[in-house]
Amino acid sequence: MRVQLIERLEEQQSINVRSNNKIRSFVIRSGRTTIAQTRAIEQLLPKYANLAEIQERIENIKFTGNQVNLEIGLGDGKNLIHMAKENPSNIFLGCDVHLPGIGSALNSVELHKIKNVRFLVGDINEALLSFGRIFQNIYIFFPDPWPKKRHNKRRLINEEFFHLIAKKMEMDGRVYIATDCEDYATSILDVIEVSEKIENRNGTRQFSKRPSWRVLTKFEKRALQAKSRVYEICCIFKSVD
Ligand SMILES: C[S@@+](CC[C@H](N)C(=O)[O-])C[C@H]1O[C@@H](n2cnc3c(N)ncnc32)[C@H](O)[C@@H]1O
Repeated sequence: MRVQLIERLEEQQSINVRSNNKIRSFVIRSGRTTIAQTRAIEQLLPKYANLAEIQERIENIKFTGNQVNLEIGLGDGKNLIHMAKENPSNIFLGCDVHLPGIGSALNSVELHKIKNVRFLVGDINEALLSFGRIFQNIYIFFPDPWPKKRHNKRRLINEEFFHLIAKKMEMDGRVYIATDCEDYATSILDVIEVSEKIENRNGTRQFSKRPSWRVLTKFEKRALQAKSRVYEICCIFKSVD
């Protein structure tokens, strides 16, 4: 059941990736969606990834004083859906380029009748251009580590990325990051330390405790099985331009 929307999205993604020489933090792998994931993308994605509806919803959420939150790299959506269930008055946007994961997350949204989750399909660096300063919390759990030195430049989180999200965070908005790649974690601390606008919630160069509200994902399980340490970072965006 290889049908239209999924093919269009894959085509669009590969055009975007080829259209400029930008270094990307991901590799597009096509053609691995299950029948259930494909059905969810075809039938549910148009409703849950409608940008005009998302923006209208955000305006209403802001009007009522509730929060707009974003998970970048949602994987199969386990955390996104858990957080949304626990905080029904807030809206949770999930962004990813990986269509099978989006399909799984959509199936869970439907199964659990979740009303406060929406999806942004594509590179977060581009997806964020459609939004102003709206986010209270951003979550980035187990971003692709790109551990080889020559691939470090592909890492999602770096100074340029912090500059971008600084323009999208509300005052005192928080970014939560978890990674089992020590070198990546310390490079993130380096960026936070030199920024006047960002404060490490736990003090200079300190890691945080694992947040109790995070559910175990495939990537965290893998890290724990390998007995790798998981580095947690929470930073606060203190000032707005
Ligand atoms: C290692 S997985 C972790 C998934 C999930 N957070 C978890 O813990 O299971 C990283 C995810 O980030 C996504 N990703 C990487 N770069 C991205 C980008 N620039 N924009 C959106 N998603 C991205 C990948 O497609 C992948 O699903």
